[in-house]
Amino acid sequence: MSSRTIRLEGVSKRFRRGAVETHALDNIDLAIGAGEFVAVVGPSGCGKSTLLRLVAGLIPASAGAVRFDAELVSAPRKDTGIVFQKANLVEWRNALDNVLLQVELRSLSPADYRERAKKLLEALGLGEFLDRHPHELSGGMQQRAAIARALVHSPEVLLMDEPFGALDALTREQVRLDLEALWLRDRMSVMFITHSIDEAVLLADRVVLMTARPGRVDRILPVDLPRPRGLGARKAPEFVRLVDEITREFLARGVLDDHGAQGRLG
Ligand SMILES: Nc1ncnc2c1ncn2[C@@H]1O[C@H](COP(=O)(O)OP(=O)(O)O)[C@@H](O)[C@H]1O
Ligand SMILES: [Mg+2]
Repeated sequence: MSSRTIRLEGVSKRFRRGAVETHALDNIDLAIGAGEFVAVVGPSGCGKSTLLRLVAGLIPASAGAVRFDAELVSAPRKDTGIVFQKANLVEWRNALDNVLLQVELRSLSPADYRERAKKLLEALGLGEFLDRHPHELSGGMQQRAAIARALVHSPEVLLMDEPFGALDALTREQVRLDLEALWLRDRMSVMFITHSIDEAVLLADRVVLMTARPGRVDRILPVDLPRPRGLGARKAPEFVRLVDEITREFLARGVLDDHGAQGRLG
């Protein structure tokens, strides 16, 4: 499958509400390579969701440009898939038909995508639940359906905004493993927003750390861990080192406060 380079070039975003202006993002330069998995971590309110909505073409930048390869992103695109924290499934459609809704909205033929939709739902552990309606699915199952919905049209770019934020820890672990497997197969370019340091290091090729508002790119850390990372990666020295480094960075910047326990960090 093909994928695209996502480029943010000097992107700033200011929101104006009456006399009040919020400077959400300041001069973001970032490139996500074709087929690369990049996680963005930063404190609450630093502009992560804003960044994702800019890349999705849902809101315009105040300055700078977002491009997929050389093409300017100025509106939502058909080659993008998006997953938010809430699944937002349509209540009157079953899981399979919720996934196929994405296809219909893109004026593609549902019949052509039915098999792929089923396979995706199976890969995400929902094989037995294709005909269930959202109210018959747990929160974790609904979110899995939302991930399948974002992937069904084989997007070249996958944008995820804290997609596992509402899941219980065990489900979160499983969906992470499933997402990595799907990404290894299809290799779309991914921007994955999270406030979980663990999750960022477990999933990403590179982790982008953002500063507090206005959000800027603070540091970018490559993650040199073999894939699939599975459940064992947490024991790898590289995992421990990276989580430690990011934690220290957030402590130094006041994003985290461990009430003087720094000496026990290791
Ligand atoms: N549509 C909007 N109008 C006004 N302010 C907004 C809007 N969207 C986000 N903001 C502000 O921009 C800042 C960044 O928000 P957001 O991107 O949601 O942060 P994060 O996702 O990192 O928690 C916040 O101060 C938020 O209040
Ligand atoms: Mg957010």
